[in-house]
Amino acid sequence: MSFPQHRPRRLRSTPAIRRLTAENRLSPAELVLPAFIREGLTEPVPISSMPGVVQHSSATLKRAAAEAAGLGIGGIMLFGIPAHRDATGSAGIDPDGVLNRAIADVRSEVGDALVIMSDVCLDEFTDHGHCGVLADDGAVDNDATLELYAQMAVAQANAGAHVLGPSGMMDGQVGVIRRALDDAGHPEISVLAYAAKYASAFYGPFREAVDSQLTGDRRTYQMDAANRREALHEVQLDLEEGADMVMVKPAMSYLDIVADVAAMSPVPVAAYQISGEYAMIEAAAANGWIDRRRSIEESVLGIKRAGAQIILTYWATELATWLKESK
Ligand code: PBG
Repeated sequence: MSFPQHRPRRLRSTPAIRRLTAENRLSPAELVLPAFIREGLTEPVPISSMPGVVQHSSATLKRAAAEAAGLGIGGIMLFGIPAHRDATGSAGIDPDGVLNRAIADVRSEVGDALVIMSDVCLDEFTDHGHCGVLADDGAVDNDATLELYAQMAVAQANAGAHVLGPSGMMDGQVGVIRRALDDAGHPEISVLAYAAKYASAFYGPFREAVDSQLTGDRRTYQMDAANRREALHEVQLDLEEGADMVMVKPAMSYLDIVADVAAMSPVPVAAYQISGEYAMIEAAAANGWIDRRRSIEESVLGIKRAGAQIILTYWATELATWLKESK
C-alpha cells in the first residue's frame, strides 16, 4: 500500500480541477460600489489616499453608475459631500442637497438596473464631522440625532433610493427610520443596517474622501475592536427594529464577526471592505510588494468565504470587469 493514503493535492493539480472544486466564487451581482459625489464639481477630483477612487461630479457619477449596471454589479452606495456644512447637517435633509439630488440622478440614469443605496448619516453634512448632533456638553445626542435621521431617510426615499444604509451607530436608528419610512408611504424601501460597525483606524482615507471636519474619534458610538459578543447583540437589536439586511464593517480585520453574524442572521449579511483596506493593498501593490490583482481577488474572496453575501468594495467595477473577461 502506498503512502500517504490521503492526497488532497490531487484536487489542486490543474486549473480546471481547482475551478471545478472551488467552494466559493465571486460574481458581480453580490458586489456594491461605494461612490462619492461632491457638490459643485465640473471635473472629478482624485482622492490621493485611494488611488483610482474619485469625488465624482454629477456627470461622472451617472457614468459610473451606468457602467456598474452594464457589468451586472448588484448595487451602488452613495455618499455626498456638500458645499456648506452646519451644526445639524441640514444639507442632508434638504431635497436639493447634493446626496438627494445624486440619488435622483442615478435613479433616472439606471432605473432599477442597480440597487441604489444611500448613506443615512450626518457626518458628511455637519461642520464638526460627527455622525449626530451635539448636546451642550459636546457629546453626541442620540435621540435628537434620531429625529434628523428619520427626516433624512424620508428625503432619500423620496429622491428614489431603494435601500437606506444608516451608518451612524445611534441606538434605535433602524426602528426610527423604519417607522418614518412607513409613515411617509415608503413601506417598500429597505434598510441595510450597519449593525456591527467598529471604531476603526482603517477609515482614515474615507475622511479625505469626504473632506471630513472631524477632530477626535467616534468611540462613544462605534463599537470597540475588542468586542465579539456585542456584535451579535447589535445585530439582534437591528433585526428586532426591522432591518432587512445587516452589515459588518470594516471587513478584513473583522472576519470572525462576519462569520458569527452569517451563522445567526436570518436576513442577508453584508460586509464593507473599507477605504483603509483599499489603500493598504493599493499602496503595497504600487511598491511592487504584492501582486495587485491576486491580492484584491483574495481579499474579497476571503470576505465571501467568511459568510458575507453582499460585499461593498471600491474595486467592484474592476472586479466585475475581470470576472467578465475570465468567462
Ligand atoms: C459614516 C461612514 C464612514 C464610512 C462609511 N460611512 C466613516 C466613519 O464612520 O468614520 C467609512 C467607509 C470607508 O472607510 O470606506 N458616514
